[in-house]
Amino acid sequence: MRRVQAFELEDQPWFPAVIRDLATDYLHFLQTRFALHEPAVPLLADALAATGATAIVDLCSGGGGPLPAVQRDLAREGRRVRVVLTDRFPNAPAFEHLTRGSEALTFVRTPVDARAVPPDLHGFRTMFNAFHHFKPADAVAVLRDAAVQGQPIGIFELPNRAASMLIPLLLTPIYLWIATPFIRPFRWRRLFWTYVVPLVPLTCWWDGLVSQFRAYTPSELEDLASRTGAGGFTWRAGQVPIGKTPGRLTYLIGTPSS
Ligand SMILES: C[S@@+](CC[C@H](N)C(=O)[O-])C[C@H]1O[C@@H](n2cnc3c(N)ncnc32)[C@H](O)[C@@H]1O
Repeated sequence: MRRVQAFELEDQPWFPAVIRDLATDYLHFLQTRFALHEPAVPLLADALAATGATAIVDLCSGGGGPLPAVQRDLAREGRRVRVVLTDRFPNAPAFEHLTRGSEALTFVRTPVDARAVPPDLHGFRTMFNAFHHFKPADAVAVLRDAAVQGQPIGIFELPNRAASMLIPLLLTPIYLWIATPFIRPFRWRRLFWTYVVPLVPLTCWWDGLVSQFRAYTPSELEDLASRTGAGGFTWRAGQVPIGKTPGRLTYLIGTPSS
């Protein structure tokens, strides 16, 4: 399939924060419930070991995405890391809920644009399921910013530009209607915007479909990395299976060359 840079609702600055937050809460729920982060953990563990990084700066965190589960699984493998959640449109209610009582998981309340990350945020940068949001010039800017600041980066994407991925995504509103009672924290507004006025299911349906058309292939990711013009960085891209599902996780990892 040809790549199509159609628009996603949650990227629009005018889009209501309440709907964006509830939509990204669903993505966090889905990834946690079905452990969709698991194939990323060994890739990340190896990259953290190679770079010696002990902190992760997660970009485009949405409702937290898979980060709490990733942090837990890394710790199980003996790799304890501090994680900072960030976003251009921070989902503060979700960040507060996820980080409450944790010293290792924190967040930035002010907007952090992945194309120009504040230099005081040091650590291994991760980005889950958001790189496809960036058109090529902006995607190069994300990678260049990491390379110029000497910060390793790992891009992980569930969206995949394959026709077979579109069919299950057509049913997204049904998944949402089933999943919503199990999403935490409980919010009356979650029920309202899902069952009474179904803007959350419609947003997830549209953005989920569009995401598949916007996904980059491993060779396109390598091409974007080669366009950063920043030397002293090594890039590798690929795909790994996601458990027993037919899906594949696409990744790009950039580390300072030793
Ligand atoms: C599909 S969500 C992914 C959320 C989360 N990482 C996950 O896996 O569930 C994409 C996120 O990217 C954020 N985003 C979009 N453009 C951004 C930018 N330029 N800088 C930082 N975040 C951005 C959106 O606000 C949204 O929360």
